[in-house]
Amino acid sequence: MKDVTITDNILYIGADDKDLDLFESQYIIPNGVSYNSYVILDEKVAVMDTVDARKKEEWLANLEQALVGRTVDYLVISHMEPDHAANIQVLAEKYPEMKLVGNAKTFPMMQQFFAMDLSERSVVVKEGDTLHLGTHELTFVMAPMVHWPEVMVSYEKSEKILFSADGFGKFGALDAEEDWACEARRYYFNIVGKYGAQVQALLKKAANLDIAMICPLHGPILKENLAYYLGKYEIWSSYQPEDDGVLVAYASIHGNTKGAAIKMKEILEAKGAKKVAITDLSRDDMAEAIEDAFRYDKMVLASATYDGGMFPCMEDFLHHLKSKNFQKRKVAFIENGSWAPMAAKNMKGILEQLKEMTLCEKTVSIKSVMKEANIAEMEALAEELLAK
Ligand SMILES: Cc1cc2nc3c(=O)[nH]c(=O)nc-3n(C[C@H](O)[C@H](O)[C@H](O)COP(=O)(O)O)c2cc1C
Ligand SMILES: [Fe+2]
Ligand SMILES: [Fe+2]
Repeated sequence: MKDVTITDNILYIGADDKDLDLFESQYIIPNGVSYNSYVILDEKVAVMDTVDARKKEEWLANLEQALVGRTVDYLVISHMEPDHAANIQVLAEKYPEMKLVGNAKTFPMMQQFFAMDLSERSVVVKEGDTLHLGTHELTFVMAPMVHWPEVMVSYEKSEKILFSADGFGKFGALDAEEDWACEARRYYFNIVGKYGAQVQALLKKAANLDIAMICPLHGPILKENLAYYLGKYEIWSSYQPEDDGVLVAYASIHGNTKGAAIKMKEILEAKGAKKVAITDLSRDDMAEAIEDAFRYDKMVLASATYDGGMFPCMEDFLHHLKSKNFQKRKVAFIENGSWAPMAAKNMKGILEQLKEMTLCEKTVSIKSVMKEANIAEMEALAEELLAK
């Protein structure tokens, strides 16, 4: 286990997972992922969440080492998703005296996942309730739909620690040397993105707490510069663009639409666009494309026409954006078709359904291969997109 220091009496007992193929059967995790779990040692001992079933043995060993012979009095359950809740029954069986702490929505869900009857051992808490462990005291703050209904976070008063559930989480094992924002943003928009309003509600409650440290369920413990992380969550959850820039996302069968997309990137850069990211929706990581769509204030969509519609990976991308509540962005369209180009009309049809979108008037329509006239049209489209 990586040595992660929290405080003298709060120990890290989580585990890194470095050989999982896809997180939630969907997201590539080149640097793995951590399932964080913590134990608070006081007059009473509380375990803060369990870990994924894949790391059961390692976690139990970490816990035993941290306990040095003591028993567990409470298991605090902030979230019932199996990457954190898989070992509830295991722990309940190992420590028969242990009480389980959750809210009114936690326990019915627990019965769906586990056959064990835990009703006699359940402590049902609500907003603002406290749990005294000795010098440590946990206050529970409900965070419904961030991103499951039963989610709650816990604030430990004496050491000013927020146990933030999946909030402020990040892909990447704890020893991954990588930028926090890049993988935290990809995590946020793909997993929590749809629930901006609920995250905003939680941030408002958190603003009333004096927080010195954030302990999330994935990724590093945040101890310094908390305003930076809270600031990122404020931007992300309010759907404001984070950076001035353009994502060019293309869907190309034989490469001609790709050629136009690359040309468009060059034109945008020549016209002064601050940052232009480009993604091949057939091949690049879809989650990264979604992340970049939210990150920048502008986007170019370029798609081949396919069976009277758009190429499927573009449709998939736009479906993801719609389901994540994508909004407040400016978008330009390039389509390609050999007999009846229809991709732009279909792409616009999806984006028109979203809130506060600005869709460029001009559309570049290519017949098979980009011509000089198309390049002139793309210059004009770039100007329209970059205009304030
Ligand atoms: C299976 C398939 C279906 C297609 N359907 C259409 C269509 O409905 N209308 C159209 O104008 N072109 C259609 N096309 C042609 C492509 O959109 C066109 O060749 C375009 O130039 C491809 O751009 P690309 O080089 O980026 O793949 C289809 C191509 C394929 C392979
Ligand atoms: Fe989750
Ligand atoms: Fe999680």
